[in-house]
Amino acid sequence: MIRPIVRYGDPVLHRAASDVEAVTADIRTLIDDMIETMYAASGIGLAAPQIGVGLRIFVTDVSAGRNPHDLVVMVNPELASHDGLQREEEGCLSMPGFEAVVPRPERAVVRGLDREGRPCEAAGVGLAARAFQHELDHLDGSLFPDRLRGIRRDLIVRRIRKLRRTGKW
Ligand code: NI
Repeated sequence: MIRPIVRYGDPVLHRAASDVEAVTADIRTLIDDMIETMYAASGIGLAAPQIGVGLRIFVTDVSAGRNPHDLVVMVNPELASHDGLQREEEGCLSMPGFEAVVPRPERAVVRGLDREGRPCEAAGVGLAARAFQHELDHLDGSLFPDRLRGIRRDLIVRRIRKLRRTGKW
């Protein structure tokens, strides 16, 4: 089932998510909904808080559905290692219309549980590493403007505040 994606400003996006206690049938349904919602929005990543669920789960697919091997499901993920540095444009399904250059590690390894609750690990380079970091941030209640400083952050936050005030967000 495709679920509505909540936007910057919704409290669920700005607080840390809780660990999943057990990967039950309900959790698997949630994961399937997240995958369907990500693909429907043509995204390359989605975290559970983005559909209003404060649990530590994310899905990514840097091929946006073109290559089944690129789908990563992570329950209770942790960053196992990272190195290098990349600076690329980044967006977020919870912030349509906004993009910014965000510094991120070039490589990242994430560990967690898969859709069946088995331990799993995924290594990402470039865009995949960026997606892992971006989604991990979501689980900690951070969105990409939180990675920016000064005027670059203020401009985005101010424009969103104005959109919210005028009911356009
Ligand atoms: Ni995002």
